Amino acid sequence: MPISSGFYSDLTADLQKCCFLRPVNATRFFLLAALISGARLLAQHPFAFGVASGDPYSESVVLWTALEGISGPETLTWECSQDADFTSIFTSGSVQTDPEHSGTAKVVARGLEAGTTYYYRFWWREHVSPIGRTKTAPAPNAMDPVKLAVVSCAHYEAGYFYGYGEIAQRSDVDVVVHLGDYIYEYAPGKAGWKVPGRVHVPDHEIVSLNDYRTRYAQYHRDLNLQAMHASHPVIAIWDDHEIANNSYTTGADNHQDDEGAYSQRRAVAMQAYYEWMPVREEHSEGYRAFRYGQMLDLILLETRLDGRTEAPRTDAGRFAPLAEHHLMSENQRNWLTERLQSSSAAYRVLGNQTIFSPLDLGVLPTKRVKDHNPDAWDGYLEERENLARLFPSVAPVVILTGDSHCSWGFEGPGYVELCTPSITSTNFDEYANPLVARFAGFLLWLRNRNLEYVNVRDHGFLTVAFSQEVAQAEWIYVQDIKSDEPWRVSHRRRRIVHPWTKNLLTKRR
Ligand SMILES: [Fe+2]
Repeated sequence: MPISSGFYSDLTADLQKCCFLRPVNATRFFLLAALISGARLLAQHPFAFGVASGDPYSESVVLWTALEGISGPETLTWECSQDADFTSIFTSGSVQTDPEHSGTAKVVARGLEAGTTYYYRFWWREHVSPIGRTKTAPAPNAMDPVKLAVVSCAHYEAGYFYGYGEIAQRSDVDVVVHLGDYIYEYAPGKAGWKVPGRVHVPDHEIVSLNDYRTRYAQYHRDLNLQAMHASHPVIAIWDDHEIANNSYTTGADNHQDDEGAYSQRRAVAMQAYYEWMPVREEHSEGYRAFRYGQMLDLILLETRLDGRTEAPRTDAGRFAPLAEHHLMSENQRNWLTERLQSSSAAYRVLGNQTIFSPLDLGVLPTKRVKDHNPDAWDGYLEERENLARLFPSVAPVVILTGDSHCSWGFEGPGYVELCTPSITSTNFDEYANPLVARFAGFLLWLRNRNLEYVNVRDHGFLTVAFSQEVAQAEWIYVQDIKSDEPWRVSHRRRRIVHPWTKNLLTKRR
């Protein structure tokens, strides 16, 4: 490929933007230049969307890739090895794809050893994909420590996905839990905040199957996103923006009548999701569970499409959720109850979309937010109370939550709730200056006595490390998601979660 005159200036910019390739000195710069040249070539490569793995069990894992620009059915082969150089192939096979699946290919690699790191790659004709690394879950009777990275809310236009890139660098993460808003459905310019050069395609709100596929393809070209997928398995569940803002079973705030039938939009959004994400096909309802040995049962909820009724209205100025407002179907509620009560693991961990704990926002001197967020569990009080009533008898429960774009640590009887900040999507920092945003967090902390930790201004992710003795949460922030200057993780916050006490987070009183 000929190198244009602007190549090296572009290259410098790419190096600075690409989190996992930080230039720190001249030698490293030129080494990295070679890697970026490879990445540039990759952009023209049929495997330009990278590789991914997900939904790990102790003996199997999903492997994923996509081919660009194919016009008919194609066969790929795949290889899985315990060595990064593929000296010996542990297992291999072939998988079909075609334009009807937008070139995406997904296979379940089986017969794997528990708690083991594997490397994988795909071949198509003479082309080979980037190498991915994945890890199976521990054996059912193992008590191995487990570390989760928890992410949500990555709006392409709102910033660079540096948080994903930081996760890619961490060798101590066992699995990434993605709690949704993996894509956003909006037309260009609707991010609330926009960085130059990151513009949504297609150039309108996505509604059709082709629209959703095009948007996923754009997100999968992001090098930070690719790096995260290539480095760790991901357990993913959608939130609302994979369909449309504030979606529920029969509609969405951001779905209008002139955009066609909601049921049709929902169906194509889910089709594209299952094509582009490394999730097992058999769980079409989304909710499902993963066992990490005797250490934790990860129970993934689906609170958007399965049974959610429209959020209660607050038009009358009174917040009055009704008993008939549900977030889950009866089937899911029964499944969840059974899972919680039958679990023998050291921890029960819920993967959840919207904030579970009560959160009074009324202290904020702004009309921008309501006193409570009716789209969160605050709008579905009976459903929350019924579930919360179970927690003391099945403690310790750790709820992992996305959606709010902010970091929160709540405690309640028998549970803690740990909310991950957004990778990029806007929070208080984009609407107010940093001091005001910091003060808003302080006001919220004063007002909400169940709130142990709050940060409403930074972006990044959460890790939770589970051992028999203690579970430790750490919120990790990226300095500036909007800058193409070299980034760094600016600061860290730690909270220790004690597993066997009633109040699980360190008390402030
Ligand atoms: Fe979001």
